[in-house]
Amino acid sequence: MRVSFALLGALAVSSYALAPPNGHNPYALIGYGKANPIGPTTGGKGGKSVTVSTAEDLLAAVKGNEPLKVYVKGSISLPSRLAPGSNKSILGVGSTAEILQNGISVVNQTNVIIRNIAIRFILDNDGITVQNTTRVWVDHCEFESEFSQEVGPDTYDGQLDIVRASDWVTVSWNYFHDHWKSSLVGNSDVLRDVDFGHLHITYHHNYWRNEGTRGPAGRFGHQHIFNNFYKDFHYQAIHSRSDNQVLVEGNVFRGDTREALSTYGLVIPEDSPNTSPEGDFEIDGYANLGAKNDWGPASINITQVGDFTEAPYKYTLTPLRQVRQVVKAGAGVGKVKL
Ligand SMILES: *[C@@H]1O[C@H](CO)[C@@H](O)[C@H](O)[C@H]1NC(C)=O
Ligand SMILES: *[C@@H]1O[C@H](CO)[C@@H](O)[C@H](O)[C@H]1NC(C)=O
Ligand SMILES: *[C@@H]1O[C@H](CO)[C@@H](O)[C@H](O)[C@H]1NC(C)=O
Ligand SMILES: *[C@@H]1O[C@H](CO)[C@@H](O)[C@H](O)[C@H]1NC(C)=O
Repeated sequence: MRVSFALLGALAVSSYALAPPNGHNPYALIGYGKANPIGPTTGGKGGKSVTVSTAEDLLAAVKGNEPLKVYVKGSISLPSRLAPGSNKSILGVGSTAEILQNGISVVNQTNVIIRNIAIRFILDNDGITVQNTTRVWVDHCEFESEFSQEVGPDTYDGQLDIVRASDWVTVSWNYFHDHWKSSLVGNSDVLRDVDFGHLHITYHHNYWRNEGTRGPAGRFGHQHIFNNFYKDFHYQAIHSRSDNQVLVEGNVFRGDTREALSTYGLVIPEDSPNTSPEGDFEIDGYANLGAKNDWGPASINITQVGDFTEAPYKYTLTPLRQVRQVVKAGAGVGKVKL
């Protein structure tokens, strides 16, 4: 496995900085969700398809580990969290598939795809939690709640939190907006023994707008963060702490964005002002910069450079000057026909 991984790494170098991903399948899966030691994420591929439009049918459809493609039609208010089994694709139909009231928890599973669904206003919990789960692809979804001082950081929890030794995940072309704490990777600094060596995640071509913190915030893992567009990510976007490593390249930051990237271990007071008004001290993380980023008005604070200098797979970077346009046009629901 080590050998083929090294080969993938060599391929990555030659594909660097070519044209934007506008070939025959611009939205194909790339990154750790595809290229990893246990195999690509395929979800319900090879299984039957079912279309659901009620909470009852949706909750029932995702059970078990049989490969299945579950098409979700229209707006569904869930009375409890959706808990998909392994080998599932959960795919929104058109541009109106939406989940309200309760989000999705993918726990102890493998091989789950969630695409083209809006997840909105999930009170007191995450939009999606990925826990102790390998091979996940979250693509072309929209995550929305509210961002304001009145609402605060804890009315809603994370938008997409990936925790407890989860691994081999790609988060692509999502539209995260109007929310305080976006995407947490590793949910406690005391879980070093559980998390360390896992949490390999690729974040690419996501659009983050009007958010507070965690775009993403990682502990103990490796995240490759490229070609994302950040607008008004108010306090701190990328945070790498507790020995986490990030490879950050080709991202663009605009608007009221104070800090684009930090490896300083302090969990800033704005992250959890209700519980930690002074912030929380953890040890620092690491960051490497690949292809040029456009930090716009934001600052960066890299206290440690790591050894995550190259992603072990093939990918094509969108030219920096096109990132804003390409991401805004391509991210979110209704952009991909499934
Ligand atoms: C589905 O997922 C399980 C893991 O829970 C795996 O062992 C199994 O091989 C998969 N089943 C099929 C039919 O692909
Ligand atoms: C996940 O696995 C752990 C450990 O086996 C177990 O305690 C827990 O109940 C499982 N959770 C779910 C939702 O299956
Ligand atoms: C993780 O999930 C596996 C099943 O996939 C289970 O055997 C294991 O106990 C779980 N571990 C934890 C810490 O939940
Ligand atoms: C940057 O990191 C250093 C620690 O190396 C810390 O003293 C400083 O306060 C940080 N700057 C900001 C703006 O957080």
